[in-house]
Amino acid sequence: MSHAVSILVTTSIRPRRAQRLQAEEISRTLGLPYVSRSRESLEALRRKSGAEAVVVVSRNRVGLVFAGREFFFHPGLGKVRIRRIEAGKTDQMIQAMGLKAGDSVLDCTLGLGADALVASHVVGAGGRVVGLEVVPVVAMLVRCGLENYAGGGPPAEAMRRVEVVTADHREYLQALENDSFDVVYFDPMFRVPRHASSAMEPLRPLADARALDPESVGEAVRVARRRVVLKERAGSPEFERLGFRRITGGRYSPVAYGIIAKDGDEA
Ligand SMILES: C[S@@+](CC[C@H](N)C(=O)[O-])C[C@H]1O[C@@H](n2cnc3c(N)ncnc32)[C@H](O)[C@@H]1O
Repeated sequence: MSHAVSILVTTSIRPRRAQRLQAEEISRTLGLPYVSRSRESLEALRRKSGAEAVVVVSRNRVGLVFAGREFFFHPGLGKVRIRRIEAGKTDQMIQAMGLKAGDSVLDCTLGLGADALVASHVVGAGGRVVGLEVVPVVAMLVRCGLENYAGGGPPAEAMRRVEVVTADHREYLQALENDSFDVVYFDPMFRVPRHASSAMEPLRPLADARALDPESVGEAVRVARRRVVLKERAGSPEFERLGFRRITGGRYSPVAYGIIAKDGDEA
């Protein structure tokens, strides 16, 4: 497994046994060095080892300290959207997907897991959401967050149901049968980043920012039973390049959704 930045794994100061075991397990699974935490500051530990980033297993979360910031899973944005859906408001992504209870979704670009979480809430216990993330440390952080979030309520149930898979969608899609999921979804890193306040900012240096390729879209069309959805900047030439001709989204929204519907998709 290759990592774009060099990373080591440790615990918070005075860890419990469970934390130490979890840190060792993460180190083994991701093939990253484990360094036992003394009383040293993270910065000192990082400098001594020459690593650029540190995975820190604390009592209540697993985070990644990188460039002076800690990145960890938080249901934040997903939670707000779920609350709005519950209040009867429209969610542009859910509308673009034509998603309903019992559906299955393959999210090919899991990232921070907000879209997968919202989809999981909408499809409910009778549906299925699988999220693919190619960067192993991002997949691990989001998996740990989804599994251990202790906030309760509908978001917690929806979180537990998201199946996180560390995989490159280029390969994963090829191995799937035709019509395996109702909806296949892509939300690649924008070609032109939005401003610094974007929720994706902490992820940017770690994420795989390669452009989506037409072959993967072709595979997605084969794998989707109903439709393939692409999220991009409103007005992005990516829609045309990748064959998405039907575009939806809020009139003043900076993002838009492209849809490729299969025959028989009535929405
Ligand atoms: C813009 S983010 C997705 C954000 C996500 N929709 C959310 O709600 O948090 C894109 C993510 O897709 C990942 N990615 C890029 N190429 C990929 C690939 N070929 N296979 C799987 N994941 C990929 C990136 O590493 C990044 O984490």
